[in-house]
Amino acid sequence: MRREEEQKVRLALVGANGMLAGAVRSLAPENYDLVLLDLPDFDLTDKDRVLSVMNQVRPDVIVNCAAYTNVDGCETNEETALLVNGRGPGHLAEAAKEFGATLVHVSTDYVFDGTKNSPYTEEDAPNPQSAYGRSKLLGEQAILQSGLEKFFIIRTSWLYGPGGKNFVETIVRLAKDRDELRIVDDQVGSPTLTDDLARAIFGLLELDASPAFAKASAGRPLTPHGIYHFADEGECSWYEFAEAIVAHLLRAGTPLQMKRILPIATHEYPLPAVRPVYSVFSKEKYRRATGATVPHWRESLEVYFRTRN
Ligand SMILES: NC(=O)c1ccc[n+]([C@@H]2O[C@H](COP(=O)([O-])OP(=O)(O)OC[C@H]3O[C@@H](n4cnc5c(N)ncnc54)[C@H](OP(=O)(O)O)[C@@H]3O)[C@@H](O)[C@H]2O)c1
Repeated sequence: MRREEEQKVRLALVGANGMLAGAVRSLAPENYDLVLLDLPDFDLTDKDRVLSVMNQVRPDVIVNCAAYTNVDGCETNEETALLVNGRGPGHLAEAAKEFGATLVHVSTDYVFDGTKNSPYTEEDAPNPQSAYGRSKLLGEQAILQSGLEKFFIIRTSWLYGPGGKNFVETIVRLAKDRDELRIVDDQVGSPTLTDDLARAIFGLLELDASPAFAKASAGRPLTPHGIYHFADEGECSWYEFAEAIVAHLLRAGTPLQMKRILPIATHEYPLPAVRPVYSVFSKEKYRRATGATVPHWRESLEVYFRTRN
């Protein structure tokens, strides 16, 4: 094996065909060697399979982008949600522990009930209101209880990016096809571009190897591992997000059928799963750990439109 190959970081990317995983694939630094794992060959609910594949791959890092992400579907298929989102991460934690890998796991703002009116910190108590939120919280707990020390649980919100079903593409489609859009205005959060989150993942992984964190503190190793909140900067309602998308389309001269966009209340657009009314994150812990700046969602939306085909 050549020397530069020896120094590559072997990253097992779980849920490799998903939207966030696409950004991880395209933004992985050159010193990473990616092994792509997804259904049907790799099912993270199958513990024996997870352990045997990881035994072959021997990853330095496992990044879990896999999840059952259909929030309303989780209400009727809670058993599947609990298996994929709740149990699966525990299998990955067990494999990471056995083979000495660092686990990066992605979680969600839906673990919170949304009753706060200031940004949620990592110390705030989760209180999920939906089957999806409950299953994702169980996934976090499975990692915390596994005894694995080297892990990052990164909670994020309102993800959109290339190659996925996402809110931006839905609004673009509806604005082209319909006279009127009616969008929920009483749920507030932070839209997050998948590329921004992928950069945050690699930023946190860099800390893993950073000498600053190898120093002992009061007899205990000071490590960067733990739970982090990451979303793009700023906040808005879904209505304000949709307005920004439509404003971009109009500036770009895109022909639209849409004549009006109206704010509505959540109860006027009932869905099976309860969403948090407010789910803005404090990014202080992430910023202090990495020294990185967090892009504003409005800037990132423009970046998305520049790069989308
Ligand atoms: N999207 C959001 O707005 C949002 C917000 C906050 C947090 N998150 C979290 O961010 C992460 C990435 O989300 P995303 O939107 O990129 O997800 P996504 O596009 O739905 O991708 C998930 C991937 O996981 C795969 N998968 C599902 N079940 C699996 C299993 N049992 N074993 C292995 N792979 C499996 C899926 O395959 P199939 O397509 O074949 O099922 C898909 O390729 C998830 O943890 C999600 O909970 C998402």
